[in-house]
Amino acid sequence: MDGNGRWAKKQNFKDRVFGHRNGTKAVRKTIEASRELGVRFLTLYAFSTENWSRPKFEVNALMELLIKSLKDEAEQLLENNIRLNTIGDLPSLPRACREELQKVIDLTKDNDAMILTLALSYSSRWELTEVVKGIAAEVAEGIIVPDNINEQYINQRLMTKELPDPELLIRTSGEQRISNYLLWQIAYTELYFTDTLWPDFDEEELYKAIVDYQSRERRFGKISDQIKA
Ligand code: FPP
Repeated sequence: MDGNGRWAKKQNFKDRVFGHRNGTKAVRKTIEASRELGVRFLTLYAFSTENWSRPKFEVNALMELLIKSLKDEAEQLLENNIRLNTIGDLPSLPRACREELQKVIDLTKDNDAMILTLALSYSSRWELTEVVKGIAAEVAEGIIVPDNINEQYINQRLMTKELPDPELLIRTSGEQRISNYLLWQIAYTELYFTDTLWPDFDEEELYKAIVDYQSRERRFGKISDQIKA
């Protein structure tokens, strides 16, 4: 969800937080449109490990926006059968954030139409480092021998273990990079880049991305004839 700061600047607002505040409206629209389309898994990169290095004022504002959004949207999530989930280094978040997240996670735990995952204090290298540490400890304790470690074993240790690999990754604001996001999981994901800044992202933008996705041929290393057969 990139481009909040540039969007605020374009509106002649010096305050980047104005962009983030409007970004939450795009979050709402995207969740609603995804749910209506029957998307089963929606994962939003809301705050990266690297985002902690932003000015303290902006970090605090983002944490407060998160708490406010959770409070405002909890009932909507419940009514729309959406389960809230998180990935990332949750203990590093302020206590008030963790508590609000836990409340909504508990509230929506039995919902099953869509899993909405927020990546918070998340980075892929951090996640993979944690997996490597865990598996190294299991080897040291004799729980597994290195020869038996395979892709499935690694998948089951990722924070995304209950999610399928993403079919489509959308990045807004014209930047064409991955920024430490789900590096293992997006091995065969279709990538979609749009110049639209995140606060301007809405259902139409989502449809455009999905229509584009529908024109792709996902070969997973095979040849076209095999896929058609
Ligand atoms: C990137 O734009 C955006 C973020 C780091 C924060 C995303 C947060 C929200 C959309 C609001 C809160 C989220 C939830 C789930 C309630 P940027 O600040 O890097 O923009 P720039 O590249 O134009 O400066």
